[in-house]
Amino acid sequence: MPKVCVVVHALSHMHHYAKSNMQNMGINAGVDLVEHSLEFSNIVKSFPGVKALKGVSFHAEGGRVCALMGENGAGKSTLFKCILGLLNQFDGDILINGKNIKSMTASQLAQSVAYIPQIHSAAFGFSVLNMVLMGTTAQLKKFGCPEKKQCELALDALKMLGIEHLASRGYSHISGGEQKLVMIARAIAQQAKILIMDEPCANLDFGNQIRVIEDIKKLARQGYLIFLSTHDPDHALIFADQVMVINNGSIKRYGRPDEVLDEKLLEEIYGIKVNLHEIAQSGIRVCLPSVGRRRG
Ligand SMILES: Nc1ncnc2c1ncn2[C@@H]1O[C@H](COP(=O)(O)OP(=O)(O)OP(=O)(O)O)[C@@H](O)[C@H]1O
Ligand SMILES: [Mg+2]
Repeated sequence: MPKVCVVVHALSHMHHYAKSNMQNMGINAGVDLVEHSLEFSNIVKSFPGVKALKGVSFHAEGGRVCALMGENGAGKSTLFKCILGLLNQFDGDILINGKNIKSMTASQLAQSVAYIPQIHSAAFGFSVLNMVLMGTTAQLKKFGCPEKKQCELALDALKMLGIEHLASRGYSHISGGEQKLVMIARAIAQQAKILIMDEPCANLDFGNQIRVIEDIKKLARQGYLIFLSTHDPDHALIFADQVMVINNGSIKRYGRPDEVLDEKLLEEIYGIKVNLHEIAQSGIRVCLPSVGRRRG
């Protein structure tokens, strides 16, 4: 079984690489000149009794961070799962780099798209390094085992996120936020240039949220296409290049965050009163709830 190979070889390589010079390990993502693209046309997805997506069309290109926003139950994770081939039946077409995902094998899909799920159940018995190495499976031939290159990629990704010290720890014995960082490292090690991140900052402490967002921006500058969901309007306002607002299964607005996100729309999405404040002369806007504050 490939997973057994992964575990056995990972342990021996881990020992070897723990001794190697970590300072030489920069992330191997490199600048990628190929344009990456993601296109949905008229995606409709129903579950029994729920029409989760009601005809979503959208186009995104590499080099950008696109933030998907919308209330709980709006359809964000469902849209992501359609891209990943995790939901077997939906209407409409999804093209990755111009190719319909319905004609792609799981391995081809994994070479193009990496996914950080919203919730990931702890995998007992796997070390952090093994979890990240699993991201490189698509690069291996059938029944192949990870080689030096895969171990380097895994350690580079852990290092990029500042968690290389966790490499030999058990994945189920680290904190929820640390697990989230490991899942991000796994997606980076996968080397797919389209990253689908379902609430990547959920569970992370304030510092790690900002560090992860900066890493995401860095990857976008290298040509990656980042499609992430967030419930934090400030993240979308400050870091996203594009924002797509989905409401009850349909796209409500799409465009630059400064064009799309206004108080009225945020109030409609979240059902609370908010105020957008511009930080003096910076052009940066932040969102605060007006709940509990006196109106003057
Ligand atoms: N496997 C499923 N079976 C039945 N209904 C589902 C399933 N998955 C999602 N739904 C329903 O589809 C709708 C969209 O759910 P989805 O998980 O996509 O929302 P979301 O925007 O990701 O919400 P959240 O912000 O809470 O993560 C919801 O009404 C949800 O209850
Ligand atoms: Mg979700």
